[in-house]
Amino acid sequence: MTDHYAVLGNPVAHSMSPAIHAFFAANLGDDISYDRLLVEEGNFDATASGFLANGRGCNVTVPCKGDAFRFADTLSEYAKTALAVNTLKKLDDGRIYGDNTDGRGFVADLKFKGVSLNGARVLILGAGGAARGILKPVLDEKPGEVVIANRTLSKAQELQKLFGSVVKAQSTETVRDGFDLVINATSASLSGSLPAIDPGVLSRSRRACDLMYSQNGETIFTEFARKQGCPEVFDGFGMLIMQAALSYELWRGIMPDFEVALKHFRKNS
Ligand code: ATR
Repeated sequence: MTDHYAVLGNPVAHSMSPAIHAFFAANLGDDISYDRLLVEEGNFDATASGFLANGRGCNVTVPCKGDAFRFADTLSEYAKTALAVNTLKKLDDGRIYGDNTDGRGFVADLKFKGVSLNGARVLILGAGGAARGILKPVLDEKPGEVVIANRTLSKAQELQKLFGSVVKAQSTETVRDGFDLVINATSASLSGSLPAIDPGVLSRSRRACDLMYSQNGETIFTEFARKQGCPEVFDGFGMLIMQAALSYELWRGIMPDFEVALKHFRKNS
């Protein structure tokens, strides 16, 4: 019998999730369907309930991750700290479980790339949903220091208060040091702009990455970091595949071969 899954969001037309999950399922010989469901404003609960009446689980994307957080009957620790859900699963007793695989997907991709956060000095640019979503999985790796730099300092300070002493808040333009890893978690790339970070920070840092991804692997931020001479630069494409693989594992109890998927989609995207 076919198991039904979907991605809910607005827009969803360009979501790669249906192709990624179809690829996982084909490799594993699983019989699944995976649809796109456009959520009209204020319609998340009805759309999710309607789908989950028969569906076994769904992914949730922008701008519905907060709605999914409120909708779920029970939440993972990752969802609780992120205040956002990207994966819903219907449990055997009919209740809906909400998880967030974005941050774990990010850390899994770092590990796959051979990047260890243990003891590392990390700079996170941005203090919105994306930054919040990666913070627990990043801190679980025991970095030496995490500086959160944001255009609006107060938002970074809120995260500092919540996440404790390893986390330090700063205004973006006051950051001068180099870091082991600079993470762009702002949504600036979406509008083709850059956070107001001193270019010297990227010259002095060992690695830089964007949580955003693009077809050719470059975002405005990765290009900027490369231009400043940062030796290792990557976009969020690996994170995209990893978060999908973790959702698949949550739903079906088996981890897809993300390495094969990564190669396939990077080549064909
Ligand atoms: P969400 O929480 O939905 O991810 P958000 O709360 O708007 O979105 O957060 C987006 C993040 O990107 C914020 O840290 C935002 O900075 P502010 O808190 O100062 O608004 C940051 N951001 C967005 N566009 C930016 C830009 N052009 N330059 C610098 N930071 C930007």
